[in-house]
Amino acid sequence: MSCCCGTFFLFLHVPTNNSNNTTMQETLNYIQQNKERYVEELFELLKIASISADPAYKDEVLKCADEVAKYLKNAGADNVEVCKTKGYPIVFGDKIIDKNLPTVLVYGHYDVQPPDPLDLWKKPPFEPYIEKTEIHPEGAIFARGSADDKGQFFMHIKAFEAMMQTNTLPCNVKFILEGEEEVGSKSLEAFVNENKEKLSCDVILISDTHIYSNEQPTVTTGLRGLSYVEVEVEGPNRDLHSGLYGGAVPNPIHVLSRLIANLIDDDGHIKIDGFYDNVEEVSLDERAEMNKLKDDPESFKKSIGLNGVEGEKGYSTLERTSIRPTLDCNGIWGGYTGEGAKTVIPSKAFAKISMRLVPYQTPDEITEKFKNYFEKTAPANVKVKVTPHHGGMPYVLPSDTKEFRAAKKAMETAFGKEVLPYRSGGSIPITAMFEQVLGAKSVLMGFGLDSDAIHSPNEHYGLFNFYKGIESIPLFFENYAVK
Ligand code: BES
Ligand code: MN
Ligand code: MN
Repeated sequence: MSCCCGTFFLFLHVPTNNSNNTTMQETLNYIQQNKERYVEELFELLKIASISADPAYKDEVLKCADEVAKYLKNAGADNVEVCKTKGYPIVFGDKIIDKNLPTVLVYGHYDVQPPDPLDLWKKPPFEPYIEKTEIHPEGAIFARGSADDKGQFFMHIKAFEAMMQTNTLPCNVKFILEGEEEVGSKSLEAFVNENKEKLSCDVILISDTHIYSNEQPTVTTGLRGLSYVEVEVEGPNRDLHSGLYGGAVPNPIHVLSRLIANLIDDDGHIKIDGFYDNVEEVSLDERAEMNKLKDDPESFKKSIGLNGVEGEKGYSTLERTSIRPTLDCNGIWGGYTGEGAKTVIPSKAFAKISMRLVPYQTPDEITEKFKNYFEKTAPANVKVKVTPHHGGMPYVLPSDTKEFRAAKKAMETAFGKEVLPYRSGGSIPITAMFEQVLGAKSVLMGFGLDSDAIHSPNEHYGLFNFYKGIESIPLFFENYAVK
């Protein structure tokens, strides 16, 4: 890290005889002059514990929705509304300057993941602070939600404010900010279906992903889908004394462990019947293009404290985490896990399992295939139950689209570097739904880094990334608005 930090002031590398550039420079100057206040305002949002998964935080989630609405209104949005749903509200706002101009719909989520384990945080998760790190020499904002997604959608509100204040908004804009993304966006689909007109747009712009690195900025061109199941193995009708019964009965924990171990073979292939049937084989050309992003195995291993990696045979780490489907056990429990010893064979054992999907797999298809395989491989002397949880479809934005090009060009101007396409391993299931219901493509112009520790203790978001994001957004609007 050297060239890109220190000062955030941006000079455009564009010809000076273009009248639009003066106005763009004004917008960027406004951002530069107000950047400290932007961070102070973001801190207020980060202090709200909007944890959607835990009903104990209901009031905080609701308060967060009201605060977001306030920020939108203050930035200059019209028709700001905290829309009720069956779950947490959806915050809406818009600015329509000319019906003949294109409309950008900005999506984000104001809910956050639970912060536990709390004892691994250096400071409390909802008391934001700035600290320098090796990757962020100019400082990073530490707090739950700083990168996922408050710090990222807030960039859009502030970029919008800058365009309003300098009179440079080049097209229409709508905002839709939800509070249930981390628990499966349950209310959003109904809301979108019931409000197609209100949400009509030409493109959806989302900052809820990451770039490859600050030295190698990227536009996310794909997200994986998700199938999520909980499994239960039931053995004896009650917990048994492991001395009196041990060795003569099926132990549900042992059975479950064998079933899980039997899901993937030694080459990293998933053994579920038909699992790969619909998997899109990415062409060698596209694989070569994506492998331009230099896989750095040593720093990858170092960043997560490993001395070796593993995965599906024949694919690079980059490919394993983007264009290939995967299966992971996310949690396993059963029996006695308290202090000391209790000699017991549990009646039941449980696990949660996630599968990341690629085009053209679907969550329903994969969940069904998982269920069939799990039941087929279970021994006859136990009962097994598979319960599906929320899932989501994979998503791809081809790099030969106007949407991709507008984002690439915007980020190239802001970063002063070539921007490459990047398929991400994470999931944002609503992107596929937006395309289906609203008929618009989503541009995933996120600015986080994979080292931001989203969903983990000490989540943070680089100040450099925050400011680069705010600068890139008006540039995207300008590029996209040009017919
Ligand atoms: N923002 C993340 C997804 C993400 C992060 C995608 C970084 C790409 C790069 C989102 O909030 C998230 O956590 N999604 C969940 C799925 C959801 C259904 C709970 C995920 O990917 O696990
Ligand atoms: Mn997110
Ligand atoms: Mn998340």
